[in-house]
Amino acid sequence: MSGPNTNYDPVEVAALAPEAVEQAVTDALTAVAAATTLEELKSARLAHAGERSPLALANREIGALPPSARAEAGKRVGQARGRVNQALAARQAELEAERDERILVEEALDLTAVPGRRPLGRRHVLTVTAERMADVMVGMGWEIAEGPGVEAEWFNFDALNFDKDHPARQMQDTFFVEPADAGLVLRTHTSPVQARSLLERGVPLYVAVPGKTFRTDELDATHTPVFHQMEGLAIDEGLTMAHLKGTLDRLAEGMFGPGITSRLRPSFFPFTEPSAEMDFRCFVCQGQDPGCRTCGGTGWIEWGGCGMVHHNVLRACGVDPERYQGFAFGMGVERTAMFRHGVSDMRELIEGDVRFNAQFGMEI
Ligand code: DAH
Repeated sequence: MSGPNTNYDPVEVAALAPEAVEQAVTDALTAVAAATTLEELKSARLAHAGERSPLALANREIGALPPSARAEAGKRVGQARGRVNQALAARQAELEAERDERILVEEALDLTAVPGRRPLGRRHVLTVTAERMADVMVGMGWEIAEGPGVEAEWFNFDALNFDKDHPARQMQDTFFVEPADAGLVLRTHTSPVQARSLLERGVPLYVAVPGKTFRTDELDATHTPVFHQMEGLAIDEGLTMAHLKGTLDRLAEGMFGPGITSRLRPSFFPFTEPSAEMDFRCFVCQGQDPGCRTCGGTGWIEWGGCGMVHHNVLRACGVDPERYQGFAFGMGVERTAMFRHGVSDMRELIEGDVRFNAQFGMEI
């Protein structure tokens, strides 16, 4: 037994008492167990294992003990700190594992989710249809021509052999452009581009003319005041109606599929002689279904007008009809689009409802 150590002050080293150390460990373990986040555990570590924690302070007191008491106190405090550190490490591992699991859930990527991209724009079905018609013609070696929407009356009517009193000139069909004596109309068909092309390009001539046309019709399921046509004009030596029919059959096949049969019915247009309406075999029922909704059971679909170009039109454009002949045709783009896509109401084509438009607009 050693004598009293003058350095030994029982008050200062009270922290080293077994109960105090035990209490510090209990407090530390309670705090560790109570920590539910890594942040809270960090605070607990600071409070119970940090430099100013009771156990750290106790550890510092060891040096003040008489040498004989140091070993035991050192062992006690060392074990106490070991238990606390173990508990801290275990809880740390637990909380980290929890955090990692939570992050896996919270930050999970659903690779099957449909991305919230902006919808792609689509071209309008009328644009696509007109372009396809033009493409078929270009594929046969024809050129594309265009003309103005506001047209001289002379091109729209006179050059095309319309009489001065032809009913189509009357107010009920034609939009006249003011002032009344300006001689300007909104073109009622794409046929004025026949005369324009002949005058500008001369003969021989093979032109296709897609474009907007206007008539004073009320908007309903089969009429619209603004519509589109695709005109064709071929002038060359030795052209006959056989060339006309062959050309229209190729155009019909390009639009509705191979093997289309067609027929020409006698008709009248001032600018063609003879004139005809071209019908093609219903591509849905092939003329086999009296209840067919596409052709109305007739087996034929009316597509447009055509004929051999009238001598008066050739003369008005400075072309010698004794040497050159030709044929012309004019098809409605709306009708073509409606038959191709099974659209029964023309208003759908112009109302601009994106749910309608988005169904079309891309084709190869
Ligand atoms: N222009 C005529 C119309 O709008 C259609 C037409 C008929 C055009 C016969 C032609 C043609 O080129 O030869 O009703």
